[in-house]
This record gives sequence, C-alpha cells and structure tokens, in this order.
Amino acid sequence: MSIAHPASVYLHRRQHLLQQVGDSVVVLATAPERQRNADAHYPYRFDSNFYYLTGFTEPEAVVVLDGRTGKSILFCRSKHEEREIWDGFRYGPAAAAEEFSFDEAHPIEELANQMPTYLADRPAIYYPLGQCANFDKQVFDWLDQVRSKARLGIQAPSQLHDLQPLLAEMRLFKDEHERTLLRQAARISAQAHRLAMQASRPGRYEYEIEAVLLHHFVASGARSPAYESIVASGKNACVLHYVSNRDRLRDGELLLIDAGCEYHGYAGDITRTFPINGRFTAAQRAVYDIVLASQQAAIAACQVGASWDTPANAALTILVQGLIDLGLLQGSVDSNIENESYKRFYMHRIGHWLGLDVHDVGAYKQQGVWRPLQAGMVTTIEPGLYIRAGDGVPAEFANIGIRIEDDVLITEQGHEVLTAEVPTDPVAIETLMATTKG
Ligand code: GLY
Ligand code: MN
Ligand code: MN
Repeated sequence: MSIAHPASVYLHRRQHLLQQVGDSVVVLATAPERQRNADAHYPYRFDSNFYYLTGFTEPEAVVVLDGRTGKSILFCRSKHEEREIWDGFRYGPAAAAEEFSFDEAHPIEELANQMPTYLADRPAIYYPLGQCANFDKQVFDWLDQVRSKARLGIQAPSQLHDLQPLLAEMRLFKDEHERTLLRQAARISAQAHRLAMQASRPGRYEYEIEAVLLHHFVASGARSPAYESIVASGKNACVLHYVSNRDRLRDGELLLIDAGCEYHGYAGDITRTFPINGRFTAAQRAVYDIVLASQQAAIAACQVGASWDTPANAALTILVQGLIDLGLLQGSVDSNIENESYKRFYMHRIGHWLGLDVHDVGAYKQQGVWRPLQAGMVTTIEPGLYIRAGDGVPAEFANIGIRIEDDVLITEQGHEVLTAEVPTDPVAIETLMATTKG
C-alpha cells in the first residue's frame, strides 16, 4: 500500500465519523473538474474533505456512509476502455472497493437511483450544506423522492446537518499519517526556499526565482504549489498577495518569498525575506531583527494549553515596541495596541491552521473564546512588517516589507518547527547566499 492511500487510515477516519452520526447517513462528493478555457481544464484537485475520508483522487466520485449498517459505499467512474486510452487509468468500482477498503462500490450513474433507498427511514442526512447549489438541489430531490413514499410507511430524514464542522474538528488534529505528509511538504518547501535564496541576485526576474521553486517542488514529487507563489522584490513585498512576479530584482532591495508545495494533498507554507545581493543593509536588519524576534517569541509560546491568541499577543508586543523604537509609532506599546495604530504596518494575524488546505479548516474559538492549543494541531506563525512610503516614514525604511513564516506542529512536549531547514537567522541567510547556485 502506498504512502498516498494506506486504506486503513481512511477506514479509521470513516469509522470515527460514523460514530458521531448515529443512524444517519453521510453523503459527500469530491470536487468537479473545472474548465480553464476552451477544452482545457485546470489541473484536477479533489475535495479536501472527500480525500480525507477516502484517499480517492479521481473526479466524479461520491462517498456514502450508512450509520445504521456502518458501511461505507463509493460511487465512482466505471472502467472505460476508450476513455482510459485518452485520459488514463481509472479504478472502476470493483478495484476501488478493494484498494480503498469500501464495503461496496457502484458506478456513479447509479447514485441518483440508490440514494432514496439509503435515506429511507433515517433520522438525518449529513452533507456539506450550502457548499454547492447543485448538490443542495440534488439532496432536496432525493428527500422529495423519499417523502413521496410516505403512504408506503417510509419516512424521510427530518433533519439536515452540515457535515463540515464535524470534519473540520477531525482535520484540526493531525494523525500520524498526516504528520508524515506535512513534514515532507515542509521539507520540500524548505529546500526550495534554500535554492531560491542561492539563485537570487540583482538583474534576475521574480519569475525566474518562482521557476526555481516550482522546479524543486515538481522534481520532488510535489506536483503543485499549495497556493500561488509570492515572489515580491522591493516595494512589491508591501502588497500582501502580490503574485504577478514580473519585476526585476534590484541591488540593495529585499526579496520576500511566500511559497509552499502541496504533497499528497498537504500544504507547506513558508515565507522568508532576504537581501537580493546577499547582504542586509543596516535599515533592513533593524526591521528584520524585530520581525524575527516577534516570530521567535510567538513560536516559543506554541505550547499545549496556551490559548490560540497567546503566540499572537507575544508577537504583537514585540512588533509594536520595535515600531516605536524605529520612530514609526509614538506613545506606549499599550496605547498603540489599544488604538490599533500598528495596523498601518502589520495588518494581518499571526497565522492559520495548516493541512489539506493552506488556510485549513478548524474553529479558532469555542463558545466565543480563543481555543487552547493541543497536540496534533498545526499552525503557521507568520508575523510581518510592511512599511509603505508615506507620511512620517524615513526614507531608509520606506518600502521595506518583511514577513517570516514557519509551520509549527504542537506536540505534548512543546512544538516541532516543520520548516526549520531553511534559515531565519540573518547571518545564516547571508552565509547560505554566499554559496550561490543556478
Ligand atoms: N501563503 C498564504 C499565507 O501565508 O497565508
Ligand atoms: Mn500562511
Ligand atoms: Mn504563506
């Protein structure tokens, strides 16, 4: 069994979900193929929840979990000699059931006919409510069909439940299989960042550095970035979602790279900021050291039992003190935090859950209170400062944008920084860049 789909892992997750839904029925479709233009499609990406429960990566598939029998049933594409000549291998129901440990599997065309039977006399249906208008309509049609059998004594489910919160809570706590894949996504992403640092120099273009990242991702078996890579030189770094990556790298400026690969569905998410010519200026170092200190304080605060906002607050205090020391803010740390004046220079939060989605699922608050960190959660820690030219900004700091982002697994002992292979220490960055490549 391959690393991509050890059937027992997915079976265990389905059983865990089934334990939470009583006699009800769960139904979950994977993502559709999406047209890019004319008859070309975007590279296919399965639905994260569907993949989490099945490991099955083909389009046109639906999984049904029957709470009363405990069975999991896959509906998928049939074998098709001609389509497989044109588009490639597909499992077909029989092999899919065997390979992915489903109790039954049927051709996807049979779903519409069979669903009313699965829904008969069940108290509730769980599915991703409101996620896809077509699927909502399909569920309502199935319910109508069951209701039409009332005079035969058959009852339709009287409750619709959103499946997403149940799966979000499961996905928030990464099991051993997920930790292995996240470590590998982080390792490949970190190696790509090292190569990008070594390839950067004045005169090259942002897209050339993007190519270094993408080459390493694909050559390592991670066929896609987890999100559009940000390769932002100079003032472009002050645009938080800069993805045009078209500018030339200039001597004396910084390069901010926010990029990570997707490995068997799991995301890496790393940001590093470094001098294009391999040497920080004094002003760049002054800002960099503040962001780094804030990141280190936030990571140190990543401990079981600490509330989600403890790392955020640890970072914010250091960032605000730093902005005061640089002369960019006036007054006390407390007053600047109170009136949020720092948001001119630091306008995002400290990070987000990471997993199958780069901004992964999982509630940040419970009953209105920031939840405590627990072992198995994975979060990014990514403070930054973005100093746009403008009123009261000394020329030496104008257009400096710096973010430092790592991926952190919370463990019983504290935490594991999954992305530590790429340096954040400014001297270590300069040393690495002195050995240029490519
Ligand atoms: N790369 C997306 C983020 O850092 O949130
Ligand atoms: Mn991030
Ligand atoms: Mn990022």
